[in-house]
Amino acid sequence: MKLWSGRFQKDVNEEVNDFNASIDVDYRMYEEDIEGSIAHVNMIAKCGIIKEEEGQKIVCGLNDILTKIKNGELSFSKENEDVHMNIETMLIDNIGEVAKKLHTARSRNDQVALDIRIYLKKEILNLKKLILDMEKVLLRKGEENLNTIMPGYTHMQKAQPITFSHHLMAYSEMFKRDYERLEDCYRRMNAMPLGSGALATTTYPINRVMVKEVLRFDKVMTNSIDGVSDRDFVLELASSLSILMMHLSRFSEEVILWCSQEFNYVELDDAYSTGSSIMPQKKNPDVAELVRGKTGRVYGNLMGLLTIMKGLPLAYNKDMQEDKEQIFDSVDTVKICLSVFAKMIDTMKVNKENMEKACRDGFINATDLADYMVKKGMSFRDAHHVTGEIVFYAIKEEKVLEEISLEKFKEFSQIFEIDVYEAIDIRKCVENRKVIGGPSPEEVKVRLKELKEFIIVKANERRELCG
Ligand code: ARG
Repeated sequence: MKLWSGRFQKDVNEEVNDFNASIDVDYRMYEEDIEGSIAHVNMIAKCGIIKEEEGQKIVCGLNDILTKIKNGELSFSKENEDVHMNIETMLIDNIGEVAKKLHTARSRNDQVALDIRIYLKKEILNLKKLILDMEKVLLRKGEENLNTIMPGYTHMQKAQPITFSHHLMAYSEMFKRDYERLEDCYRRMNAMPLGSGALATTTYPINRVMVKEVLRFDKVMTNSIDGVSDRDFVLELASSLSILMMHLSRFSEEVILWCSQEFNYVELDDAYSTGSSIMPQKKNPDVAELVRGKTGRVYGNLMGLLTIMKGLPLAYNKDMQEDKEQIFDSVDTVKICLSVFAKMIDTMKVNKENMEKACRDGFINATDLADYMVKKGMSFRDAHHVTGEIVFYAIKEEKVLEEISLEKFKEFSQIFEIDVYEAIDIRKCVENRKVIGGPSPEEVKVRLKELKEFIIVKANERRELCG
């Protein structure tokens, strides 16, 4: 019998029953549901809404159910629709009549709003941990490659020399912001909706602050309609995760390029690559490709969630039950992607010589040649033009800039002296870019130090929060 069957004369159609049920998706919030129910029932007992001993019985029953679910002794059924009613039914079966008092002064609408917040708050902590793990890998690789020169690209064309460390630190900055976005998201999610009731609170003298304290929320939500209606915190998380996946996807794309024979900048560890069923020689970057591919599903979830919410009148509508499948999928996807991707980077071999070799062509020191003339007194526009002519000449002669003789340089401009060769030395070109944010090893060292501090500070915050 359904918990809500009183008003009905007929059983619900079987197909409708399955259609309506969300247990296959929301069962995973059973721990949070029980945690919330225990806080609720303790509060209504304290407030005299039910008797103290009734409250105690219900709490014991709920704890017992938690253990039994964990041990696989109890299983969920579609007949009971969702996690909330499954657990309430289990409780009734377990301790009898008194269990029917649990739902006093509560609705499934505020219950689900609470459960999903507790659940996602925990997941945000898990996600943040995985980002820190990724940052640790980038820190280590960054330290190892402080002097690994490589071409930097714009338009996928060789542009100016950088170091591999500098390149990796670009991603570390992006992941730092992803981390901070999750922190922001957590802050706004950290408001307690229980007590909103179905939409208009309750006439029972409940104590919402007590529940907020026990469940370690920052504040109580102060509009009951908002408390049960909005899922902006889900959207915010879905969008933060989409941005994070965009970063991971760009990184993946680069790894895929870098391990192509054309680049040969890195080699993935055997444990993080796969073979082909037909071509024996193949070693494919499937992990990176899958991360790039899975970005699509995380974006899709965001679009799905936004679309679910866009036309809903206040307050609760059943449409909102669809939110969980998508946000859970985004969370699961990002977690596995962060985890494998970080390990793939950690174990990847960097072909330093090939990166350096790749700096030889592409005239990536052409800007430095122009800057050399500027430093000797020429305007940048003129220097840009002269350098263009020199590059054109070098292409024709199949030479790199360093191979052009001083006499030849002088034919283009009398400004050139012997020190031009130092100015266009690739390593010097990198070392001289020591302004804030530049690729010089000196400057990147500062960034690595900052990253290390970020990791330490965040790990400490985490220890304080999680114990
Ligand atoms: N399973 C529902 C959900 O996830 C719980 C809330 C149901 N409330 C209701 N009035 N039908 O949204």
